[in-house]
Amino acid sequence: SSAGRRRISTTFVRCSSETGRSNVHAGLPPDFKFGVASSSYQVEGATKEGGRGLSNWDAFCQQYPEKIADGSNGDPGAGSYWLYKDDVKHLVELGVDVYRFSISWSRILPNGRGKPNKEGIQYYSNLIQELLDHGIQPFVTLFHWDVPQKLEDEYGGFLGRQIVDDFRHFVDICFSEFGDKVKHWITMNEPLTFTASGYALGIYPPGHCTPNLTYEGQNYECPVGDSLTEPYIVGHNILLAHAEAVQLYKDTYKAKQGGKVGITLVTNWFEPYDSSPLNVEAQQRALESNLGWFLDPLKFGDYPFSMRSLARDRLPKFTAEESEKLKGSYDFIGLNYYTARYARNIGFDINYEPKIYQDDARFDSLVDKNGIPIGYAQENSWVNVYPNGLKELLLYVKNRYDNPEIYITENGVMQLNNNTNNNTNNNPPATNSTEISNKIAEAKELNDIYRAQYLASHIQELVEAIRSGSKVRGYFVWSLLDSFEWNFGYTSKFGFYYINSNKNSTNKEKPAADLTRIPKHSANWFKWFIAVANSPV
Ligand code: NOJ
Repeated sequence: SSAGRRRISTTFVRCSSETGRSNVHAGLPPDFKFGVASSSYQVEGATKEGGRGLSNWDAFCQQYPEKIADGSNGDPGAGSYWLYKDDVKHLVELGVDVYRFSISWSRILPNGRGKPNKEGIQYYSNLIQELLDHGIQPFVTLFHWDVPQKLEDEYGGFLGRQIVDDFRHFVDICFSEFGDKVKHWITMNEPLTFTASGYALGIYPPGHCTPNLTYEGQNYECPVGDSLTEPYIVGHNILLAHAEAVQLYKDTYKAKQGGKVGITLVTNWFEPYDSSPLNVEAQQRALESNLGWFLDPLKFGDYPFSMRSLARDRLPKFTAEESEKLKGSYDFIGLNYYTARYARNIGFDINYEPKIYQDDARFDSLVDKNGIPIGYAQENSWVNVYPNGLKELLLYVKNRYDNPEIYITENGVMQLNNNTNNNTNNNPPATNSTEISNKIAEAKELNDIYRAQYLASHIQELVEAIRSGSKVRGYFVWSLLDSFEWNFGYTSKFGFYYINSNKNSTNKEKPAADLTRIPKHSANWFKWFIAVANSPV
């Protein structure tokens, strides 16, 4: 981390500020917000408590345990349903300004619609109050991938147009119950990941893909689905549901509550494979089909031209009215950034047959060029580290989308734990004692110098983007706690705080008793960084 720290310190800017929290030492605007993020299914646990209904993830983990790396599910998550006060204590410890979490639709409406569940409402009221009592502002995501299973069974969840009305009902309850205290709403989290993983690759619920799909050398086994059309339908309904929610907020709540509504999108940054015009075009199509798929309709009222011309009638169309409703339907854009790829053109052969919707954009997405990775490879991780991509992405958004207000709603790095005994170079040899090897693994996880370095180098790029005029208002690290990482189960850890998932409690009286959170090196680093950024001038 010393390299990371040194890099950051070069960005410090001296100027005077009258506010207590200045951020000036980091070269950031005085009201810049630092935070961490989480999501309901990943951290809450207690999936059968408090009147919560079944969600798509509960059903999926039960039906296809083989699709989750360790056969696990959202129980106990990080136990945040019981331990939210402890979570807030750690947020205070870190010194963050903001906390991004999501509301579980199934906790508020166990059957997806109808009358709200009082215990569910109480839980989020408690959490929000606890945050405010400690001076931390909530950023609330309304949909972070957990759909009430009832709606899946009835009409296929986001495959059905009915979801737009049901989502509107759900967010109406959230705005009216929590809107006095919540001033930042995020309608949807990463529609790209939700659609691609659930409906093209089948690795998330509902597990749909074209039968016997081979994509980028991997085989995907799914009983149902059509990887060429379903993702577009789901993406379309997500956009319509978002627009409806924003309209509702504007019409009924905004004047009274004075909050802001945005959406969180994700994309890799794409570098052209080389500077040839065809590969530069491939880079543009890559960005359009990942980010523009959602951001173009939100800004311009329609999908990018490249998508309309290549996906043709598989891409649904907006009516004039829908298009108007979508245009400008955000106060800010949330961006999640993790990594980058090369984009290489694959041409326009008239006989080309796409197998999966991603093929429509006609580019290969590559992590290396002639064996040399983009950025640098990260130990234990499945992604390469490419901090400059964050700056490039921010400037791309500034230029193409008329410089919207931005929050980086996620940035972070995982530790993959496939085999705790698989020691490398400097570590003691593997031992037969599981206790000792667990201790070694734990010590290794706590000493996450690479994570502090990852974050420092990305914040540096963010500062540079702001200097070039990007309107970034805040930065959230994914994530506060080690938690349920979707298809990776508990084998992939993103937290500032370590939780020993081997010790997951089955104690019914005090279910979260063993979910002790231990700060990693990176937590201390972030705490230090925020303190320095805000120290008096
Ligand atoms: C994206 C998602 O929003 C979040 O749920 C996930 O855990 C992280 N990125 C890391 O993969």
